[in-house]
Amino acid sequence: MSANYKRVLIKLSGEALQGEQGYGISPHTLETFAGEIAELQRMGIEVAIVIGGGNIFRGVAGSTAGMDRTSADYMGMLATVMNGIALQDAIERLGVPTRLQTALEIKEIAEPYIRRRATRHLEKGRVVIFGAGTGNPYFTTDTAAALRAMEVQAEVILKATNVDGVYDSDPRQNPEAVRFERLTYLDVLSKNLRVMDSTAISLCMENDLPIIVFDLNQAGNIKRVIEGEDLGTLICP
Ligand code: GTP
Repeated sequence: MSANYKRVLIKLSGEALQGEQGYGISPHTLETFAGEIAELQRMGIEVAIVIGGGNIFRGVAGSTAGMDRTSADYMGMLATVMNGIALQDAIERLGVPTRLQTALEIKEIAEPYIRRRATRHLEKGRVVIFGAGTGNPYFTTDTAAALRAMEVQAEVILKATNVDGVYDSDPRQNPEAVRFERLTYLDVLSKNLRVMDSTAISLCMENDLPIIVFDLNQAGNIKRVIEGEDLGTLICP
């Protein structure tokens, strides 16, 4: 089967890396994901990844617990950098070149984010991992995914989650919950479906950037989505 997309941006939540252990990085989950990314790169797909940090620290949780929101969000950004380093290491162990770029400068560890350089890395077949979100407090890594996808001209955002799409209610609590196969951006906003925050959805809407929400835990799903299989939920104009 041929690929439907040439350049994709995968949004991976921090929680997706924690596997069954409920915190931190599960080596098995990390290796499985890295294996799937390596396969895409070998198929000639240009892959950019925005990684979250919720498996280590969540800015919102920190501020709810009484921390200054800005400080808490900076800690969250550093958490995404830790995940980025782990992911870079896991993908490179499989022989696939990567570059880690961060929105906050930590030059000893990663390249600073430079859009033209990121694009060049992608053209050269390197997997580019973006860390530290947008570099600003009050923005989520979903918004960073929308922003980076537009900047590097990815054709689609693949939002890898722990459920197999967007439902009308939480399928873990309501067995009658119905999965949407297709939604418009306005549906997501007006029905208040918590798939991505409204800033991220609005950015995608203004730029007609499609989003596919799918279950990361089914082996091979990323490749299936890229080959055009009808999985999860497509959010588009
Ligand atoms: P080309 O110019 O396309 O060949 O890209 P390149 O990334 O191979 O070139 P460069 O010489 O810039 O980078 C070589 C290595 O150094 C890569 O692994 C980069 O990720 C890394 N690197 C480049 N700039 C920085 C930086 O500011 N900080 C850190 N930590 N690493 C960097």
